[in-house]
Amino acid sequence: MRPKIVAGNWKMNGDLVFVQDYVASFKKYWNEKRLDQFSDLGVIIVPPAILIASVQENIKAVSVNGQLEFAGQNVSEYSSGAYTGEISAAMLKDFGCRWSLVGHSERRALFGDQSSVIVEKIKQLLAEGLRPILCLGETLEEREQGKAEICVKSQLDSVLNSFSVADFSKLVIAYEPVWAIGTGKTASPEEAQEMHKFIRSVVASKSSDLAESIIVLYGGSVNSGNAESLFRQNDIDGALVGGASLKPEEFLEICAQCGRSALS
Ligand code: PGA
Repeated sequence: MRPKIVAGNWKMNGDLVFVQDYVASFKKYWNEKRLDQFSDLGVIIVPPAILIASVQENIKAVSVNGQLEFAGQNVSEYSSGAYTGEISAAMLKDFGCRWSLVGHSERRALFGDQSSVIVEKIKQLLAEGLRPILCLGETLEEREQGKAEICVKSQLDSVLNSFSVADFSKLVIAYEPVWAIGTGKTASPEEAQEMHKFIRSVVASKSSDLAESIIVLYGGSVNSGNAESLFRQNDIDGALVGGASLKPEEFLEICAQCGRSALS
């Protein structure tokens, strides 16, 4: 069975005081919900880069076990040099991250992260031994025009065709329909399952083993009320959570639901 992952993307939210409060509640609910029992579940916190050190420092004091890891929200396509404002893969690694998001729809729509840039970012991460979480997803317009699969396939193919099977196997995919992000609208479990299955079929064109083993997360308005039915779907291996990840009790409830889905 594939391992489960729930990642919490804080986006551009939080400050030093928030981190302290967050970690204190995080510890409480981690114990209360007995997250330790879910050995197949990985939990990834994705804070703004400037807060990563503070989250780690505070979390260390609450010593949750090795299930908890950290990710960057973005990474530079360059390794070092005169790129003001950028953060390299080596820097993320230095600050204890094992992962980074790549190609989040907000990066694609607002900051011009096109496929060629995304491929370079993934190369940087892999060169440092970090694992990319590649975000894919169609807009509402594309879905309404019946082009959701074409869009997701084209985003996926541009990365799939740029890496060997061995390299691509280090990626986790997050399917996040753009119309469901931050809108309160989630894809139905059936709609999400259908796209996850489709994503595996695209990956299967490169390697059927890889299609079976690659972790595919769902993202877009996931909360503790809708997560369980999503996690019951065969091809959904966890979630990338935005807004709900800012509330530790809510976030860890989603994690617990994901952990339980691995046991059943
Ligand atoms: P949301 O964000 O859960 O707030 O919809 C998900 C994401 O953008 O990763």
